[in-house]
Amino acid sequence: MMEDVQLEEIVVSAGVSGIMDHLVWTLCDEGDGILVGKPMYSGFAKVCYERELRIFNKSKPGRKIRALLIANPHNPFGKCYSRQALLAYMEFCEAHDLHLIADEIYAMSIFKTPSNKEAIGFHSVLSIPNVGIIDPRRIHVLYGMSKDFSSNGLRLGMVISRDKKLVEVMAGLALFSWTSSPADLAWCIILEDAAFLEYYLSEHQRRLAEGYEFLAGILDNLGINYVKGGNAGFFLWIDLSFALERPAHGGEPGIEEDMRLDQKLIRGGVHLAAGIGYQAEKVGWYR
Ligand SMILES: Cc1ncc(COP(=O)(O)O)c(C=O)c1O
Repeated sequence: MMEDVQLEEIVVSAGVSGIMDHLVWTLCDEGDGILVGKPMYSGFAKVCYERELRIFNKSKPGRKIRALLIANPHNPFGKCYSRQALLAYMEFCEAHDLHLIADEIYAMSIFKTPSNKEAIGFHSVLSIPNVGIIDPRRIHVLYGMSKDFSSNGLRLGMVISRDKKLVEVMAGLALFSWTSSPADLAWCIILEDAAFLEYYLSEHQRRLAEGYEFLAGILDNLGINYVKGGNAGFFLWIDLSFALERPAHGGEPGIEEDMRLDQKLIRGGVHLAAGIGYQAEKVGWYR
Protein backbone atom coordinates (compact mmCIF):
# COMPACT_ATOMS: atom_id res chain seq x y z
CA MET A 1 0.00 0.00 0.00
CA MET A 2 1.18 3.54 -0.73
CA GLU A 3 0.05 6.37 1.52
CA ASP A 4 -0.16 10.10 0.85
CA VAL A 5 2.37 12.24 2.67
CA GLN A 6 0.86 13.96 5.68
CA LEU A 7 1.68 17.45 6.89
CA GLU A 8 2.99 16.14 10.20
CA GLU A 9 5.55 14.00 8.31
CA ILE A 10 7.32 17.07 6.89
CA VAL A 11 9.92 19.26 8.58
CA VAL A 12 10.81 22.44 6.70
CA SER A 13 14.08 24.31 6.97
CA ALA A 14 16.31 26.75 5.07
CA GLY A 15 17.54 24.34 2.39
CA VAL A 16 18.42 20.70 1.95
CA SER A 17 22.06 21.12 3.02
CA GLY A 18 21.07 22.28 6.49
CA ILE A 19 18.30 19.79 7.04
CA MET A 20 20.50 16.95 5.76
CA ASP A 21 23.02 17.91 8.39
CA HIS A 22 20.29 17.85 11.08
CA LEU A 23 19.07 14.49 9.77
CA VAL A 24 22.50 12.90 9.81
CA TRP A 25 23.17 14.12 13.35
CA THR A 26 19.77 12.83 14.45
CA LEU A 27 20.39 9.37 13.00
CA CYS A 28 24.07 9.01 13.82
CA ASP A 29 26.48 9.33 16.67
CA GLU A 30 29.89 10.82 16.04
CA GLY A 31 32.10 8.25 14.36
CA ASP A 32 29.23 6.31 12.78
CA GLY A 33 29.26 5.67 9.05
CA ILE A 34 26.95 6.30 6.11
CA LEU A 35 27.10 4.36 2.84
CA VAL A 36 27.44 6.61 -0.20
CA GLY A 37 28.34 5.48 -3.72
CA LYS A 38 31.03 7.28 -5.71
CA PRO A 39 30.95 9.70 -7.41
CA MET A 40 28.63 11.62 -5.12
CA TYR A 41 27.20 15.13 -4.80
CA SER A 42 29.97 17.19 -3.22
CA GLY A 43 27.69 18.22 -0.33
CA PHE A 44 27.34 14.57 0.72
CA ALA A 45 31.06 14.45 1.26
CA LYS A 46 30.79 17.57 3.41
CA VAL A 47 27.97 16.21 5.56
CA CYS A 48 29.29 12.70 5.92
CA TYR A 49 32.99 13.23 5.76
CA GLU A 50 34.33 16.45 7.15
CA ARG A 51 32.06 16.13 10.16
CA GLU A 52 33.91 13.06 11.41
CA LEU A 53 31.55 10.61 9.75
CA ARG A 54 33.69 8.53 7.41
CA ILE A 55 32.42 6.97 4.20
CA PHE A 56 32.11 3.24 4.25
CA ASN A 57 35.25 2.22 2.43
CA LYS A 58 37.35 4.16 4.89
CA SER A 59 35.49 2.91 7.93
CA LYS A 60 37.29 1.29 10.81
CA PRO A 61 36.37 -2.28 11.73
CA GLY A 62 33.43 -2.25 14.11
CA ARG A 63 32.21 1.16 12.95
CA LYS A 64 28.43 1.32 13.08
CA ILE A 65 26.91 2.01 9.68
CA ARG A 66 23.58 3.81 10.15
CA ALA A 67 22.28 4.71 6.73
CA LEU A 68 22.49 4.48 2.98
CA LEU A 69 22.39 7.86 1.24
CA ILE A 70 21.43 8.31 -2.41
CA ALA A 71 20.63 11.23 -4.67
CA ASN A 72 17.76 10.23 -6.96
CA PRO A 73 17.99 11.62 -9.64
CA HIS A 74 21.73 11.16 -9.31
CA ASN A 75 24.15 14.04 -9.11
CA PRO A 76 26.58 14.03 -10.99
CA PHE A 77 25.35 11.28 -13.39
CA GLY A 78 22.06 13.02 -14.24
CA LYS A 79 20.21 9.70 -14.25
CA CYS A 80 17.43 8.13 -12.19
CA TYR A 81 17.49 4.93 -10.15
CA SER A 82 15.18 2.23 -11.48
CA ARG A 83 12.24 1.04 -9.39
CA GLN A 84 13.99 -2.33 -9.04
CA ALA A 85 17.16 -0.69 -7.76
CA LEU A 86 15.17 1.32 -5.20
CA LEU A 87 13.37 -1.84 -4.07
CA ALA A 88 16.71 -3.61 -3.73
CA TYR A 89 18.03 -0.70 -1.61
CA MET A 90 14.92 -0.90 0.58
CA GLU A 91 15.43 -4.63 1.11
CA PHE A 92 19.12 -4.08 1.79
CA CYS A 93 18.41 -1.40 4.39
CA GLU A 94 15.80 -3.52 6.13
CA ALA A 95 18.12 -6.54 6.20
CA HIS A 96 21.05 -4.56 7.59
CA ASP A 97 19.22 -2.30 10.05
CA LEU A 98 19.94 0.85 8.01
CA HIS A 99 18.02 4.02 7.26
CA LEU A 100 17.50 4.92 3.60
CA ILE A 101 18.01 8.63 2.89
CA ALA A 102 16.87 9.64 -0.59
CA ASP A 103 17.73 13.15 -1.70
CA GLU A 104 15.16 13.86 -4.41
CA ILE A 105 16.04 17.51 -4.96
CA TYR A 106 16.12 17.01 -8.77
CA ALA A 107 12.77 15.15 -8.84
CA MET A 108 11.18 17.50 -11.36
CA SER A 109 14.32 18.37 -13.31
CA ILE A 110 13.75 15.43 -15.60
CA PHE A 111 13.33 15.53 -19.35
CA LYS A 112 12.95 13.52 -22.52
CA THR A 113 15.13 13.98 -25.59
CA PRO A 114 15.50 12.00 -28.83
CA SER A 115 18.79 10.56 -27.53
CA ASN A 116 17.55 9.38 -24.14
CA LYS A 117 14.36 7.54 -25.10
CA GLU A 118 15.51 4.46 -23.19
CA ALA A 119 16.39 6.36 -20.01
CA ILE A 120 14.74 5.28 -16.75
CA GLY A 121 12.11 7.71 -15.49
CA PHE A 122 12.01 9.13 -11.98
CA HIS A 123 10.38 7.15 -9.17
CA SER A 124 10.27 8.62 -5.70
CA VAL A 125 10.96 6.10 -2.94
CA LEU A 126 7.70 7.36 -1.47
CA SER A 127 5.80 6.18 -4.57
CA ILE A 128 6.84 2.55 -4.16
CA PRO A 129 4.60 0.33 -2.01
CA ASN A 130 6.83 -0.94 0.77
CA VAL A 131 4.71 -3.24 2.95
CA GLY A 132 6.72 -6.34 3.84
CA ILE A 133 9.86 -4.82 2.29
CA ILE A 134 10.98 -2.12 4.68
CA ASP A 135 9.72 -0.47 7.82
CA PRO A 136 8.49 2.89 6.40
CA ARG A 137 10.08 4.64 9.38
CA ARG A 138 13.50 3.84 7.90
CA ILE A 139 12.86 5.96 4.78
CA HIS A 140 13.67 9.68 4.83
CA VAL A 141 13.25 11.84 1.74
CA LEU A 142 14.88 15.22 1.20
CA TYR A 143 13.46 17.83 -1.13
CA GLY A 144 14.11 21.52 -1.71
CA MET A 145 13.47 24.34 -4.15
CA SER A 146 17.08 25.09 -5.19
CA LYS A 147 17.21 22.90 -8.29
CA ASP A 148 13.76 22.37 -9.79
CA PHE A 149 13.03 26.06 -9.33
CA SER A 150 16.58 27.33 -9.92
CA SER A 151 16.34 29.34 -6.70
CA ASN A 152 18.96 28.32 -4.23
CA GLY A 153 19.02 31.80 -2.74
CA LEU A 154 15.38 31.61 -1.72
CA ARG A 155 16.24 28.94 0.84
CA LEU A 156 13.72 26.19 1.45
CA GLY A 157 14.31 22.49 2.05
CA MET A 158 12.54 19.70 3.83
CA VAL A 159 12.69 16.19 5.14
CA ILE A 160 9.73 13.84 4.78
CA SER A 161 9.75 10.98 7.25
CA ARG A 162 7.24 8.57 8.81
CA ASP A 163 9.31 8.21 11.94
CA LYS A 164 7.30 10.32 14.39
CA LYS A 165 10.10 10.51 16.94
CA LEU A 166 12.62 11.63 14.33
CA VAL A 167 10.21 14.26 13.00
CA GLU A 168 9.71 15.54 16.54
CA VAL A 169 13.44 15.85 17.15
CA MET A 170 14.06 17.46 13.77
CA ALA A 171 11.22 19.92 14.21
CA GLY A 172 13.09 21.12 17.31
CA LEU A 173 16.40 21.36 15.44
CA ALA A 174 14.77 23.17 12.51
CA LEU A 175 14.15 26.13 14.80
CA PHE A 176 17.86 26.90 14.37
CA SER A 177 17.67 26.98 10.58
CA TRP A 178 14.26 28.43 9.97
CA THR A 179 13.36 29.49 6.44
CA SER A 180 12.94 33.27 6.04
CA SER A 181 9.47 34.83 5.93
CA PRO A 182 9.96 36.20 2.36
CA ALA A 183 11.00 32.71 1.15
CA ASP A 184 8.12 31.10 3.04
CA LEU A 185 5.62 33.50 1.49
CA ALA A 186 7.06 33.29 -2.04
CA TRP A 187 6.97 29.47 -2.04
CA CYS A 188 3.43 29.35 -0.69
CA ILE A 189 2.27 31.61 -3.52
CA ILE A 190 4.20 29.66 -6.18
CA LEU A 191 3.24 26.19 -4.97
CA GLU A 192 -0.44 27.06 -4.71
CA ASP A 193 -0.55 28.42 -8.27
CA ALA A 194 -1.37 25.28 -10.27
CA ALA A 195 -1.47 27.07 -13.64
CA PHE A 196 1.96 28.64 -13.09
CA LEU A 197 3.42 25.33 -11.90
CA GLU A 198 2.19 23.54 -14.98
CA TYR A 199 3.65 26.17 -17.29
CA TYR A 200 6.89 26.56 -15.34
CA LEU A 201 7.72 22.86 -14.97
CA SER A 202 7.01 21.98 -18.59
CA GLU A 203 9.12 24.95 -19.76
CA HIS A 204 11.88 24.04 -17.28
CA GLN A 205 11.96 20.46 -18.58
CA ARG A 206 11.84 21.58 -22.21
CA ARG A 207 14.82 23.88 -21.70
CA LEU A 208 16.77 21.22 -19.82
CA ALA A 209 16.22 18.81 -22.74
CA GLU A 210 17.35 21.47 -25.21
CA GLY A 211 20.48 22.22 -23.17
CA TYR A 212 21.27 18.52 -22.85
CA GLU A 213 20.95 17.89 -26.60
CA PHE A 214 23.08 20.94 -27.36
CA LEU A 215 25.93 19.91 -25.08
CA ALA A 216 25.73 16.19 -25.88
CA GLY A 217 25.87 17.11 -29.59
CA ILE A 218 29.06 19.13 -29.07
CA LEU A 219 30.67 16.35 -27.03
CA ASP A 220 29.67 13.73 -29.60
CA ASN A 221 31.13 15.81 -32.43
CA LEU A 222 34.38 16.28 -30.55
CA GLY A 223 34.50 12.58 -29.59
CA ILE A 224 34.54 13.42 -25.86
CA ASN A 225 33.30 10.61 -23.64
CA TYR A 226 30.54 11.25 -21.09
CA VAL A 227 27.92 9.31 -19.14
CA LYS A 228 25.31 8.74 -21.83
CA GLY A 229 21.53 8.56 -21.59
CA GLY A 230 21.11 11.28 -18.96
CA ASN A 231 17.57 12.55 -18.37
CA ALA A 232 17.83 14.62 -15.19
CA GLY A 233 19.54 17.66 -13.76
CA PHE A 234 21.40 20.37 -15.62
CA PHE A 235 24.80 18.77 -16.00
CA LEU A 236 26.75 16.04 -17.74
CA TRP A 237 29.54 13.94 -16.24
CA ILE A 238 32.33 14.11 -18.80
CA ASP A 239 35.71 12.47 -19.24
CA LEU A 240 38.49 14.97 -19.96
CA SER A 241 41.28 12.57 -18.96
CA PHE A 242 42.68 12.79 -22.51
CA ALA A 243 43.65 16.39 -21.72
CA LEU A 244 45.65 15.57 -18.57
CA GLU A 245 49.38 16.21 -18.77
CA ARG A 246 51.72 13.28 -18.14
CA PRO A 247 53.64 13.56 -14.86
CA ALA A 248 57.24 14.76 -15.34
CA HIS A 249 58.62 11.73 -13.45
CA GLY A 250 56.54 9.28 -15.54
CA GLY A 251 53.57 7.13 -14.57
CA GLU A 252 49.88 7.87 -14.87
CA PRO A 253 48.36 11.35 -14.34
CA GLY A 254 47.08 11.88 -10.80
CA ILE A 255 45.41 14.54 -8.67
CA GLU A 256 48.20 17.05 -9.36
CA GLU A 257 47.66 16.84 -13.14
CA ASP A 258 43.89 16.96 -12.59
CA MET A 259 44.22 20.18 -10.59
CA ARG A 260 46.50 21.60 -13.27
CA LEU A 261 43.84 20.90 -15.91
CA ASP A 262 41.21 22.50 -13.67
CA GLN A 263 43.34 25.66 -13.40
CA LYS A 264 43.98 25.64 -17.16
CA LEU A 265 40.24 25.53 -17.80
CA ILE A 266 39.64 28.41 -15.40
CA ARG A 267 42.42 30.47 -17.05
CA GLY A 268 40.67 29.77 -20.36
CA GLY A 269 37.43 31.15 -18.94
CA VAL A 270 35.74 27.76 -18.51
CA HIS A 271 34.57 26.71 -15.08
CA LEU A 272 33.69 23.05 -14.68
CA ALA A 273 33.23 21.25 -11.38
CA ALA A 274 36.26 19.01 -10.93
CA GLY A 275 35.59 15.35 -10.14
CA ILE A 276 37.73 15.49 -7.03
CA GLY A 277 34.92 17.37 -5.27
CA TYR A 278 32.58 14.50 -6.13
CA GLN A 279 34.95 11.81 -4.84
CA ALA A 280 35.41 10.68 -8.47
CA GLU A 281 37.07 7.31 -8.72
CA LYS A 282 39.19 8.34 -11.70
CA VAL A 283 41.04 11.57 -12.45
CA GLY A 284 40.02 13.73 -15.39
CA TRP A 285 36.24 13.58 -14.85
CA TYR A 286 34.32 16.84 -14.63
CA ARG A 287 30.71 17.91 -14.14
C1 LIG B 1 21.84 16.31 -4.60
C2 LIG B 1 21.82 17.67 -3.96
N1 LIG B 1 21.29 17.82 -2.73
C3 LIG B 1 21.26 19.03 -2.13
C4 LIG B 1 21.80 20.16 -2.73
C5 LIG B 1 21.79 21.47 -1.99
O1 LIG B 1 20.50 21.88 -1.75
P1 LIG B 1 20.15 23.26 -0.99
O2 LIG B 1 20.47 24.39 -1.91
O3 LIG B 1 18.69 23.13 -0.71
O4 LIG B 1 20.98 23.30 0.24
C6 LIG B 1 22.38 20.04 -3.99
C7 LIG B 1 23.00 21.21 -4.64
O5 LIG B 1 23.79 21.11 -5.56
C8 LIG B 1 22.39 18.78 -4.63
O6 LIG B 1 22.92 18.62 -5.85
